[in-house]
Amino acid sequence: QELKLSLEQIEKGGYEHFMLKEIFEQPKSVHDTMRGRLLVDEGVIKMAGIWDHVERFKNANRIIIIACGTSWHAGLIGEYLIEEYARIPVEVEYASEFRYRNPIITDKDVVIAISQSGETADTMAALKLAKEKGAFIYGICNVVDSSIARITDAGSYTHAGPEIGVASTKAFTAQLTILTLIAFKLGKHNGNLGNAEFMSLIAELDALPKKIEEVLNTTHELTQNIAKDFVKATNFLYLGRGYNYPAALEGALKLKEISYIHAEGYPAAEMKHGPIALIDENMPIVIIAPKKGHYDKIVSNVQEIKARKGKIIAVVNKGDRQVSEMADYVIEIPETSECFSPIVASVPLQLLAYYIAVYRGANVDQPRNLAKSVTVE
Ligand code: G6P
Repeated sequence: QELKLSLEQIEKGGYEHFMLKEIFEQPKSVHDTMRGRLLVDEGVIKMAGIWDHVERFKNANRIIIIACGTSWHAGLIGEYLIEEYARIPVEVEYASEFRYRNPIITDKDVVIAISQSGETADTMAALKLAKEKGAFIYGICNVVDSSIARITDAGSYTHAGPEIGVASTKAFTAQLTILTLIAFKLGKHNGNLGNAEFMSLIAELDALPKKIEEVLNTTHELTQNIAKDFVKATNFLYLGRGYNYPAALEGALKLKEISYIHAEGYPAAEMKHGPIALIDENMPIVIIAPKKGHYDKIVSNVQEIKARKGKIIAVVNKGDRQVSEMADYVIEIPETSECFSPIVASVPLQLLAYYIAVYRGANVDQPRNLAKSVTVE
């Protein structure tokens, strides 16, 4: 028992939990995901799995992304990325819904499965179905040689390293990194992403690990302080628009998974169709509002929340004024192109969920009722 304990402590590398360690590993894991793939100086993205089948992607009727949980959130951001930069239609499906609803799949479809573990039973079953119908199937897995990695026609490993905490953190940002690489590579190849924009985007992507590092440094203490004020909260809303709508979903999922506080993510503009009825002085609302991407619209959402006395925790860019002035708590992140903001914005939201859960005395690495890999249907 003692030996086991000390081994675990060594594995945690001085952090109190695996989850915190994994949050802090993200500058490295995102870098590892890009290593050998992103060659900034040459202006090249090397991905054999994509390149060997590039015609399948280019001629695809559509791409269907299949996943569960956090990986599904990454898939939603993948849709925004691939549609924006490669202009290929994308649909994102929960694996469990896809497989039971008699979907239309043809041999002109490309199916991308996203799975940290590579073992999720629903994702696996959905892939088998797609394969039977002749689709080309591509895997984005973290665990090397996992079942999903083995049945796909091709794929890219995320190389985030082992993720032990049940709540996914570094695997998520690694999935986003891969999806970004795929979108840029396909866009460059099919001519939808011009060379100048491609070069500037990949330079920014290359600098992302540094920005994540910066966010960890500047928000670590801050998120602890904010967390202390919300230990007794019973509900949370997370709002974002565009690329940050899925980031809001993921922020809410992190909180509910480990703190057992009910949390809902919503596209900010949909607030008026329901969630606004819930807002009063007891409702904390996390709002992701970076400069690039519908900022003015977000400002008016924040005004509506303010008028109803909701407690606003705003994730904004450094130097922000308008939203910050209305917010009760301000978390600053560096400015990025819109497509990278979910990666940068997710980091303080992971920390916030982590500290709220820790202060509530919850078992963050092994939350009740949840499993790291769900091998039952
Ligand atoms: C479980 C885990 C989640 C994960 C989901 C999908 O619910 O607790 O963290 O996002 O499964 O797992 P996968 O391994 O397929 O990404």
